[in-house]
Order: sequence, then C-alpha cells, then structure tokens
Amino acid sequence: MLASGAGSNLQALLDDDVLGSRIAGVVSDREAAGALDRARLARVPARYANPMEHEDRASFGRSVSAVLDELRATHVVLAGFMRILDADLVRAWEGRMLNIHPSLLPAFPGATPVRDALDWGVKVTGVTVHLVDEQVDHGPIVLQEAVPVVEGDDESTLHARIQRVEHTLYPRAVRLLVEGRLKVEGRRVHTLGTGQ
Ligand code: GRF
Repeated sequence: MLASGAGSNLQALLDDDVLGSRIAGVVSDREAAGALDRARLARVPARYANPMEHEDRASFGRSVSAVLDELRATHVVLAGFMRILDADLVRAWEGRMLNIHPSLLPAFPGATPVRDALDWGVKVTGVTVHLVDEQVDHGPIVLQEAVPVVEGDDESTLHARIQRVEHTLYPRAVRLLVEGRLKVEGRRVHTLGTGQ
C-alpha cells in the first residue's frame, strides 16, 4: 500500500479476514505518516521513501518501484498518497493498482474533494474506487457508493461519514482485484462471479 496520511484505510484492509495477512508492506512519502505506525503495529514492513532524495518524479518513481519489488508486491493500493505518480510506475502496474477518492468521480477530483463538494452545495457525494491510469483521479471505476451531505455538515463531519463508507468499500474492491474478478473494457469495469 502507498499512503501519506493517517492510514485508516490501511487499517480496514489489515482488519479484513481475507486481506489482512496478504499486505506485503506500506510505503509512505511522509516519515510521520500514521499509516507507517499502523503497519509497524501490525508487523507489516513499513518503508519511508523520501522524495527529497530524488531530483524528479521519475527518479522517485523508480525508488518506489524498487521498494515494491523488494516487498514482492503483486498489487498496489493507494490511500491518500499525496504525490502524483510517475507515468512509468503507473504503466508498470496497469490493471493492478487501485486508488480510493472521497467523491463520486468525475465530480471533484484533486486534493480537496470534500471541501469542494460542500462548497458546490451538492446533496449527495460519496466514494470512488478506481484503477489508476496516467491522469489524476481518472482511471476506470471499480466501485462507487453514495454518501449524503446533511444540514450543518462541515468538512470534518462529512469526511468522517465518507470514511466510514471507504472502510467497507475499499476491502471489497481490493478483494475483487486480487481474486482476478475485474474485467476492464475501456472505461468500464465488469465484476465477474457473484457475491463479494
Ligand atoms: C481518504 O479519505 C482517501 O479517500 C483519500 O485520502 C484519505 C486517506 O485516509 N484519498 P486514510 O489515511 O486512509 O485514513
């Protein structure tokens, strides 16, 4: 997993019966990321990849690639990784890399989707899990779930409601991916088989 933040989505994967024991490691571009602490607590390899040691995005991407190889990762799951990934890295993991975004894409891509949804005045926002392609918050959509905006919401109450949904939706999507049950046709992602 690649994460920059608190790691609550990592925790949801660690707590999942099927996935918990299959997490090869956590890589963060922030040394103080809560996600790294959660990984260490769960005795999962935790690696800090320092972007300042690299002159450009491509070089940082190669170092992340090397760590993923060393961890023998088979898939890559992003949660709140606040760095645009190098195109070569994205291509190398095409069809095997997921991201979670706290809005119903294509509405509100970018770094402040919860605030943007509130500012726009939408009554419904949500969560999107998508395969990663070379554009930010853009790849084929695997799962989405709506979350209501309620009277009096601020960014923090709305994000908390969104995160509760993330914590069930992401494990479902990651399971579908690792079980080979996603079939991608252009922008459309079909789910093979029944049940979750
Ligand atoms: C999540 O809301 C995710 O959708 C967004 O960043 C947040 C990461 O949260 N991309 P956490 O670090 O998993 O708690």
